[in-house]
Amino acid sequence: MSFTDHILTAPLIRGLWINAAKCLRVVVPAGDAAAVPPQALTVDLRAAWTGDSFDEAWAAKLLRDAYTAWEAKNGAASAQPSCIRITTPSGDAVYWIDRDLDSAKKRSVTGDASPLEPGNTNTADSLIAAPGASAVNRSSVVKNKIVLVTGGAQGFGEEIVRGLAASGALVFIADLNLGGAEKLAETLNASEKRIAAVAVPVNVSNEASVEALFKTIADTAGGLDLCVSNAGVLKAASVLEQEEAAFKFVTDINYTGFFLMVKHCGRLLRRQNRTAPGWKTDIIQINSKSGLEGSNKNGAYAGGKFGAIGLVESFALELVEYDIKVNAICPGNFLDGPLWSDPVKGLFVQYLNTGKVPGARTLADVRAFYEAKVPMKRGCTGADVMRAIYYVVEQEYETGQAIPVTGGQVMLH
Ligand SMILES: NC(=O)c1ccc[n+]([C@@H]2O[C@H](COP(=O)([O-])OP(=O)(O)OC[C@H]3O[C@@H](n4cnc5c(N)ncnc54)[C@H](O)[C@@H]3O)[C@@H](O)[C@H]2O)c1
Repeated sequence: MSFTDHILTAPLIRGLWINAAKCLRVVVPAGDAAAVPPQALTVDLRAAWTGDSFDEAWAAKLLRDAYTAWEAKNGAASAQPSCIRITTPSGDAVYWIDRDLDSAKKRSVTGDASPLEPGNTNTADSLIAAPGASAVNRSSVVKNKIVLVTGGAQGFGEEIVRGLAASGALVFIADLNLGGAEKLAETLNASEKRIAAVAVPVNVSNEASVEALFKTIADTAGGLDLCVSNAGVLKAASVLEQEEAAFKFVTDINYTGFFLMVKHCGRLLRRQNRTAPGWKTDIIQINSKSGLEGSNKNGAYAGGKFGAIGLVESFALELVEYDIKVNAICPGNFLDGPLWSDPVKGLFVQYLNTGKVPGARTLADVRAFYEAKVPMKRGCTGADVMRAIYYVVEQEYETGQAIPVTGGQVMLH
């Protein structure tokens, strides 16, 4: 019998290895408890369960004690074990560990249990940096990190996925549109010549689906460093006319969906933190300038975005105990993205057809109207949002913030 509830144990193991090496690790469950090499670290975790209830703090202690004993035997400066076998009340599980998904998967197939390279070999800076450590080059802050982007199949999400993959991260692309996510993952894996992206289906407004998403992440790579909660929808309408169903649809995805994401992401990140105290992880909500200032005939959207900033501030206060930073990024209009530029249902076409922009005769007129509202005279781009993401991840001394990226259109008060 094999233990398969990897979301309980893989993040603890990932944290332990990261804490010991001070560099990033991927943990791949092998599933086949029979194929255990003699070099594997073996840990009996049965005492961490009472019936169905799992005491993750106790499991973390058992794992830490076993690892410390291994270090005492082998010397703390020596290389790390690349394989661990755990025993639970519902069977054994074996995990393979390496610096990236390709290498860990290869070990799980070939059974290569040779030790891991010691020390900080695959990241530009110490992960658990001393306060006041020097800033690193922005994009390198996500190199080798395991990241998740919801709504990653198109629009801002796609831009973020592409930016993170190009910076060396392993990206889970989670979207309602699984076909779109798979196509993007295929393209990136081919261009990056490694497993740079994995597509996963999710509906962020459905709790079971969100829970399954984090289970898939733990089953595939053992844990997570950065969650970008980007999936969002817009249904603009007058408060005097909007159907309740449309209001609820927008709120369920933009507001409740963010709560569900943080609930299940936070549980996983807390588990990693049990064995890697001090290691900072990030949850970033892609909010909007409409989360900072009202939006005419667009109340469901602006209300959900305002509300989500309240969630960001509250969750940040609670999760700081586990070194989880929670922040929002509030972009201006992505005028080149599909929401605005789609030739059939994009906002430029809609606004032209409904006469929302006075005097506009062409799509270019509508665009010029919105560009003129921005002091910097252009729409927001994926690169603008990426710079903010790198800043938030790099800035370890900030949480609970909503950062405008609006070309000066909306300013903080
Ligand atoms: N486009 C803009 O001008 C703009 C400006 C500021 C903020 N934003 C915010 O950026 C985010 C992305 O917006 P966009 O314009 O790129 O959107 P988009 O419509 O181009 O893409 C959204 C993606 O999310 C996915 N999605 C929708 N509902 C989902 C659900 N329930 N579960 C999982 N995935 C779902 C879609 O399949 C799609 O791939 C949103 O949160 C939005 O509010 C957009």
